[in-house]
Formats: sequence, C-alpha cells, structure tokens
Amino acid sequence: MSLAHKISIFPEAAVVARELATEVADALEENPSLVLGLPTGRTPLLLYEELVRLAGTGRIDFSQATTFNLDEFLGIPASHPGSYRSFMQAHLFDHVNLDPQRIHFLNGAAANPFDECCRYEKAIDEAGGIDLLILGIGTNGHIGFNEPGSGLAARTHRVTLKPETRRSNAALFGNDPDAVPAEALSMGMGTILDAKAVVLVATGQRKAACVEQLVTGPITTQLPASFLQLHKNVEILLDAAAAARLQE
Ligand code: F6R
Repeated sequence: MSLAHKISIFPEAAVVARELATEVADALEENPSLVLGLPTGRTPLLLYEELVRLAGTGRIDFSQATTFNLDEFLGIPASHPGSYRSFMQAHLFDHVNLDPQRIHFLNGAAANPFDECCRYEKAIDEAGGIDLLILGIGTNGHIGFNEPGSGLAARTHRVTLKPETRRSNAALFGNDPDAVPAEALSMGMGTILDAKAVVLVATGQRKAACVEQLVTGPITTQLPASFLQLHKNVEILLDAAAAARLQE
C-alpha cells in the first residue's frame, strides 16, 4: 500500500525549512487564530530559525495563534534545561509574539500524569482542535513519542521511551542517554490523526529507511508514522537525503 498524499522533495534541509515556514506564514495570514501543533528535535531547528526570522520582518504574526507541543519528558519540570519546554522557549517562544496564555505544553512534573493527559486532550478540544500539526519522525518510525510496539495508544498518554529514543535525546542531557528521562507524555495516535492538516518533515540520510517504509510499507504499529496513511490531509516534506530510498 502506498501513501497517496503529497510528497515534496527539496535539495536540502534549509530549503525544506523555508518552504514550511512560508506555509505556516500563509496559514497564519489566512487564519490569524490558527492552532498549531509543534514538534521538538533537531529537524525543526531550521524551521524555528526561519519562523523567528520571518516574525522579525513582520511577515508572520503569532499574536492570535495557539500552540500545542506534541510531547514532554516525564519527571522533570518545565524549567529543566533538558525539557522540551526549555527547547521551545530557546528556539521559538522567546523570539516571537505568541501570547504565553495560548502556548500549551504537557507538564512533565504533574503530580498525576493521567490527569495531566486528560487536561491536555480537553485543552485541545476547547481550542477547537489542531489546525496544522507539524511532525518529525524518529529513525524507528515514531511520531510524537508514539513508539513502535504491539499496540498504540489513541489519546495523550504516558510512554516508556525506547533506548534509541533516549540516545537521540542525549544532547539535551549532557550527552548522557542514561540521564534522559525514561518516560514521557505524548499526544496519542488519535490526537495526531484528529489534526485537520498534518505536515511531516524528515531530513538527512538517517531518516531514509523510515521514510521509505512510511511511503511504501503497510500500516503497522511497528511503524507508528504509517498510520498517517489513514489521514486525508498529510503533506510530507523531505530533503534529498531523506528521500534517497524512494523511487523516482
Ligand atoms: C519530538 C517528537 C519526535 C521527533 C523525532 C525526530 O517532539 O515528537 O517524534 O520529531 O524523534 O527527532 P529529530 O528531529 O531530532 O530527528
């Protein structure tokens, strides 16, 4: 089964970032109250750089926008330097005119993680759902922190991170994979598939294999991103390296 959605391939990651930033700018122009879903990780760094640049020129106005991040580590407060919240502050939130009241994040230090997940689902509903959800993809095919396995959770939930995911995040914790929290909170597959539009971004040769599986393989819990095949409005943005295993 192949993914029938729009796949665009650009020569390099910087062009992907510019393309997506323009898409976000256009979407915000059309709907200033856009509800955005946002990822962390290395992939969106260039995007956030570009969004900050466009905000500086007045091309983008975030003042009415709402954001929901996909996931957060469990057991650390937002103020921890390794938290995804700190990442977002450093790379986007501190540099654009988003209203702090409309920035939504899972609280990794919540006393009751289950209640925290329910709160997040409710907040997304109350915001009217996510209009545009930007996703990265893990080398193991995860989206958000929905890791491959025998089953997938539908809604925002508590997850145990795979060793490879903790290794990928080691840079946030002094390059020590053991210092990366073992658990996280993440939007579920249903939360992701409920977004009105999804853009998945993958860059670099490390992503070529999972991109190939995503585009050409079956829908399987072993590659959570493959469930995007069920969504009506998905766009996949790739650089040439990530697209290397796709046939012309
Ligand atoms: C992070 C997230 C993850 C990453 C994925 C790719 O919020 O949701 O699914 O998008 O792990 O990470 P990078 O971009 O670092 O390769």
